[in-house]
Amino acid sequence: MPSTEGVAARRAALQMLDAVLRRGRTLDSAADAAKGLQANDRALAVAIAGEVLRRIPDLDALVDGATRQRLPDDSKARMVLRIALAQKVALATPDHALVATALPLVDGGPRRLVHGVLGTLLRRGLTPIDAPRLPEPVEQRWRQAWGEEMVMAARRLIGHRPPLDLSFADEAEALDFAKAQGGVSLAPRHVRLHDAGAVHELPGFGQGRWWVQDLAASVPARLIPSDARDVLDLCAAPGGKSMQLAAAGHRVTSLDRSEARLERLRENFERTGLSAELIAGDAREWEPDRSFDAILLDAPCSATGTFRRHPEVLYRARPQVIADSAELQKRLLERAAQWLKPGGALVYSVCSMEPEEGEEVVAGVAGASVDPAIGPARELPDFVTPSPDGGVRILPGLIEEQGGLDGFFVAPLVRSGD
Ligand SMILES: C[S@@+](CC[C@H](N)C(=O)[O-])C[C@H]1O[C@@H](n2cnc3c(N)ncnc32)[C@H](O)[C@@H]1O
Repeated sequence: MPSTEGVAARRAALQMLDAVLRRGRTLDSAADAAKGLQANDRALAVAIAGEVLRRIPDLDALVDGATRQRLPDDSKARMVLRIALAQKVALATPDHALVATALPLVDGGPRRLVHGVLGTLLRRGLTPIDAPRLPEPVEQRWRQAWGEEMVMAARRLIGHRPPLDLSFADEAEALDFAKAQGGVSLAPRHVRLHDAGAVHELPGFGQGRWWVQDLAASVPARLIPSDARDVLDLCAAPGGKSMQLAAAGHRVTSLDRSEARLERLRENFERTGLSAELIAGDAREWEPDRSFDAILLDAPCSATGTFRRHPEVLYRARPQVIADSAELQKRLLERAAQWLKPGGALVYSVCSMEPEEGEEVVAGVAGASVDPAIGPARELPDFVTPSPDGGVRILPGLIEEQGGLDGFFVAPLVRSGD
């Protein structure tokens, strides 16, 4: 017999998926549905929901191949079948457990149908889905922007757990840590670990010697000129890039609109012993009391580049969301450009795969208030090649053999007319 908790975890996964797919929530915020569960059941619920979100098109193809009449996309029966099948193909849950924990979710509803479809599919035998297809509109968009090989790489990457990237304040410590923990360093002050356990159990966490930061996310701060003293980090929380800047010796002002996220930044700075001036404010209205040597604008975006860890972005980033986001980014970039000292540097970045939020935002502003900064690429990892106008497009399959990285766009700019 399945434990009641086993069913509770699946029920929580069902609620999370509903919150994500129907109400557009992030999986992290939807995980509140599992607040009352024990820690391991909560982790299981999040894992199941995540594995479903990684594989919906393939799971649906299985379901559709075993039903005479197509189940509506948003039907409970389809969602419960996705949940059961994801456990089979991605979590190696035994058949009896996944059936026994699925059926109570459709009690008083399509129980016989779900039982029948699961029975048919399990008898046929299911193989792991190593390179799951992404939602069709996303594949079309990315194929058009980046080509077929990028889409294939994205499929391979979303099917596997990404490695853990850490950023260090100190290069010698990073190298020692990599050696001791069997990690690799792919850029200065970076360590990548494969199959790492719980982050807070890794050595040095409590002492704040490092912080978790995807390798691609560490690129924007690497492009801030080292001689810039007074640096504004305009959309700063939870603070990965602000910590890099503070560790590099800049005087950092970190602004963010969200008090809650700023609180996480504060905790991160406390843990690492780094310092910055923190400001809660909306960059659309805030006015600085001085101009800056350099500004980092890591703008809010669709975050589609983070699809390996946050597969729900593939469903949340609809065309209108991307268009609205691009409008806001352009506005923030235009404002930020006004706050630079003569000769000041501005680095614009987004963890988005969409050219509308990256290349096109910069092209729309360049020449008016800022120009591309073409010059020595400061501290780019050697696998990244800037385009002739200095912009850096990081595709997630760039270092696929080493585990890939988030998709990012980064543009180093300078104030126009200087
Ligand atoms: C991509 S995240 C920043 C990540 C951060 N740079 C880091 O490295 O940890 C974007 C941030 O922009 C903030 N944000 C969104 N709209 C904003 C606005 N109008 N003014 C200021 N911050 C804003 C969000 O709260 C969010 O923390």
